[in-house]
Amino acid sequence: MNFKEIIRVIPDFPQPGISFKDITTLLNNGEAYRQAIDELKALVAHLKIDIIAGPEARGFVVGAPLAYALGVGFVPIRKSGKLPYETIEVGYDLEYGKDKLAVHTDAIKPGQNVLIADDLLATGGTIATSVSLIEQLGGKVVGAAFLIELVELAGRNKLTDIEVISLLNYE
Ligand code: PRP
Repeated sequence: MNFKEIIRVIPDFPQPGISFKDITTLLNNGEAYRQAIDELKALVAHLKIDIIAGPEARGFVVGAPLAYALGVGFVPIRKSGKLPYETIEVGYDLEYGKDKLAVHTDAIKPGQNVLIADDLLATGGTIATSVSLIEQLGGKVVGAAFLIELVELAGRNKLTDIEVISLLNYE
């Protein structure tokens, strides 16, 4: 299946110069969505994964179905102020903006092997922050899996200690 024909590209959103990869057109296509998750599942099959963590919001629509397919749990990594129980937080820079990410302190047990899942790797800031949160809880990040990698932004250079897996590369 040619996923690039299905994912819509919006020029100059949300700022001039950003070419936004709109995965809503993939999510809207049941066959394509399922095949994309199945292909990601195959790409991570060699990893030992106890639990998947995904950053809000688009990380949920990749991480949760992947967790279901693998039969493991899912940990939401959320923007500050959204999680109701005790959290730890780390600040980070986005491709366009700044924010803080948080996770529940009991979401990951020390020694668990964690796969991070998200829709897209850009600068790598979101995932580097997620790695920091998971490691603070004693988890071991075994890899990070994406539908899309924006190769020019070189996010994988920020993630040298983990295996970076992506279904589609965009220049
Ligand atoms: C987007 C995307 C990734 C992140 C990638 O999320 O879903 O999580 O940016 O950028 P980076 O590699 O430069 O960190 P965003 O923060 O826009 O949040 P959303 O999923 O809630 O739209």
